[in-house]
Amino acid sequence: MFDLSGKTALVTGGGRGLGLEMAKALAKAGASVAINGRSRTALEAVRDQVASEGVILEVAPGDVVTDAQRILDDATRNGQALDILIHAVGVRDRRGTDDMDAAGFATLINTDLTAAYGMAKAALPYLRRSDAGRLILVTSIAAVAARGGDPAYTAAKGGLEALTRSLAVELGSDTLTVNAIAPGWFATETNAALAADPALQQFVDIRIPLKRWGRPEEIAPAAVFLASPAASFVNGITLTVDGGMTVQM
Ligand SMILES: NC(=O)c1ccc[n+]([C@@H]2O[C@H](COP(=O)([O-])OP(=O)(O)OC[C@H]3O[C@@H](n4cnc5c(N)ncnc54)[C@H](OP(=O)(O)O)[C@@H]3O)[C@@H](O)[C@H]2O)c1
Repeated sequence: MFDLSGKTALVTGGGRGLGLEMAKALAKAGASVAINGRSRTALEAVRDQVASEGVILEVAPGDVVTDAQRILDDATRNGQALDILIHAVGVRDRRGTDDMDAAGFATLINTDLTAAYGMAKAALPYLRRSDAGRLILVTSIAAVAARGGDPAYTAAKGGLEALTRSLAVELGSDTLTVNAIAPGWFATETNAALAADPALQQFVDIRIPLKRWGRPEEIAPAAVFLASPAASFVNGITLTVDGGMTVQM
């Protein structure tokens, strides 16, 4: 049920953090996986590192804002079907409303939301060639629970979750599903300083029922599930992986 042998997958933002964990898990489940990020050199270094651990990944470099088609050409080896697209690119601009100008807001929305639509649209012909296409967007618990002073990211992730529902309704079929994964607080490299901050641990103890940050590899099973035959009737959901943070009163 969770076997991905023979599947082709692309993970945008797959060169580090949660995207890389999801890419490795898809590969371990049998898929042929390409990871994307903006730097070919960085991706090749990751590919070589991961290969030394026995996991084979390909690289498909490019900026999702401007290079969607080129990334797909690489990932699909020029036109074959793509079975799984996990769009994990997400950048952050923590400027609050007093400091954030309209241009900065628009730039973040463009990267985190508009480019997700662009990638999905560009990938559609390839996903439609699959007999079990899976489009998986990576949102955030910020889509449903806001922290003050983070308006652009929060708006982008909220939009992404609504986009997931919209695409699931419009495109969902026996051979194509659209879902999202919403990570909570994960101790990725990007969050290393925050995760090590003792002042924040108090907040974690109170606000996360499991009283800890997520380990990056703990996001991966959600991706394998949604990508797999086991999720054949799951369409339009956001699978939240947050240790219970968003359901606590
Ligand atoms: N970590 C968490 O706790 C957490 C919580 C909630 C949601 N999320 C979401 O989960 C996803 C992954 O988060 P993360 O913390 O693992 O991220 P991360 O470590 O910052 O990695 C982001 C990846 O995206 C790539 N990237 C950024 N801009 C790109 C662009 N324009 N085109 C192509 N690639 C681009 C980066 O590679 P280059 O810089 O080399 O291009 C990098 O590989 C994001 O969508 C994030 O919003 C994370």
